[in-house]
Amino acid sequence: MSERGGVPAGGIPPGGLFIDGQWTPARSAATFATLDPSTEETVARVARGGPADVDDAVRAARAAFAGPCRRMAPVDRALLLTRAARTLESRAEEFAILETRDTGKPLSLSRSEIRGCVRYFDYYAGAADKIQGETVPLGPDYLDYTVREPCGVTAHITPWNAPLSMVCRSLAPALAAGNTAVVKPAEQAPLTALALADVLREAGWPAGAYNVVTGFGGEAGAALSGHPGIDSLTFTGSVPTGRAVLRAAGENITPVLLELGGKSPQIVFDDADLDHAADEIAKGIFTNAGQYCDAGSRLLVHTAVHGPLLERLAERTARLRVGPGMDDPDVGPLISAAQRDRVLGYIDAGRSAGAHVVAGAADFPKGYFVAPTLLDGVRPDMLVAREEIFGPVLAVLTFGGDDEAAELADATDYGLAAGIHTRDVDRALRFARDVRAGYVMVNEYFTGGVESPFGGSGHSGYGRERGLAALDNYTRLRNVVVRIKGDERP
Ligand code: NAI
Ligand code: MG
Repeated sequence: MSERGGVPAGGIPPGGLFIDGQWTPARSAATFATLDPSTEETVARVARGGPADVDDAVRAARAAFAGPCRRMAPVDRALLLTRAARTLESRAEEFAILETRDTGKPLSLSRSEIRGCVRYFDYYAGAADKIQGETVPLGPDYLDYTVREPCGVTAHITPWNAPLSMVCRSLAPALAAGNTAVVKPAEQAPLTALALADVLREAGWPAGAYNVVTGFGGEAGAALSGHPGIDSLTFTGSVPTGRAVLRAAGENITPVLLELGGKSPQIVFDDADLDHAADEIAKGIFTNAGQYCDAGSRLLVHTAVHGPLLERLAERTARLRVGPGMDDPDVGPLISAAQRDRVLGYIDAGRSAGAHVVAGAADFPKGYFVAPTLLDGVRPDMLVAREEIFGPVLAVLTFGGDDEAAELADATDYGLAAGIHTRDVDRALRFARDVRAGYVMVNEYFTGGVESPFGGSGHSGYGRERGLAALDNYTRLRNVVVRIKGDERP
């Protein structure tokens, strides 16, 4: 295997932590395995970081922030981000394969997520030299101006469902704004976050600007979220862990952005184009085996079109190819045995509560597979109508009129995304205005891009990622008032 900047060309990064520009074992010397969910085989062993390693990483990030990063002109940060984009682009296939091996995700989907990562670097490269303040009118005897300064050391605790994408989503705006970063990737899929270290180093980012501490949530994650040296924390993951992170950060009054899950509705009215709606609904729940925070996991369908829509959905569901990520199927395995069992538990709970299981079979000797599943006849009080399943399972509920649809749409603790399928523009705009969701999509699911601000309310969390709005998470506003003396009027 040839070496390129420390990372073997085969794509598996060295097993160490990445701290202050160096690969280093955990202080405890402990390691753990990350598996390929398609085969249940070990892909690599990585360092099991703990509190002492987090300390080292935060110290390195602090030194880089106070030193080379602070001195860097915004246009130079833009250049380094652009270089990171080009380097990642040139190695996109290697990263896609690594992501697929570590998560089981279909190869095409990994390719598309890596393209999205490249886009994050390009987008925020373009923003780096446009993060500007204002002057505030106080009259001729004062100059009042604001400066949008970086927060300092930013922490990023990321999930396994779109591993590199979740890192780049918050890292790129953080670096663009002049911060440094400590990343704690999910223990189930830490490899691409490690491999990114090499990309950023090759692009010219100074040592300490990007640090990665791999490890378990209760160890490295807890240490990072409670660390007093963190100036801003971004967490993406589950609601219970979000609460724990918030409590730990609260000790230090560290600002936190939370991007938690959802139970996002796709609402189909009786005037919708049913063929198109069926395509979008299937995409919204089966892409990534349903393991996206904004998966359209509840179908709310008008009773008048329930039959024809379900027929179309059942046909599409039966056609999906389920298989190992490297075979590039439509649907890969879930991330882990635990996640598979969790999802199967929800399917059982739905069945016992009286839901009708419409489609699905996946029989593989190995791997954490769950067949794409439609749960028809779900009632609003059922567990499967309210809780995030995070698997390829669609809960189907019906409604009779717009008011009932609106009520059902808002009948969970979440408020992340919503999909609306109708040909009536007024109805679409009414729902887009009123539905409890931070991200609304009309007649196309998973639409929008890096440019579109994304986030939720309620148990889905708060704060916005993507777009220019994300820069607010990684900047602080300083106001300076200057008294101008010397030509006082009589
Ligand atoms: P999790 O929320 O526990 O894990 C997310 C990240 O938090 C990982 O990096 C993990 O190591 C870290 N973490 C865990 N405990 C921590 C702690 N005490 N302090 C600091 N960091 C900690 O999610 P998990 O358990 O892997 O998945 C369970 C459920 O969470 C899923 O079934 C799904 O419903 C939801 N989830 C939602 C995601 C989203 O995108 N909103 C992503 C992943 C999971
Ligand atoms: Mg893995």
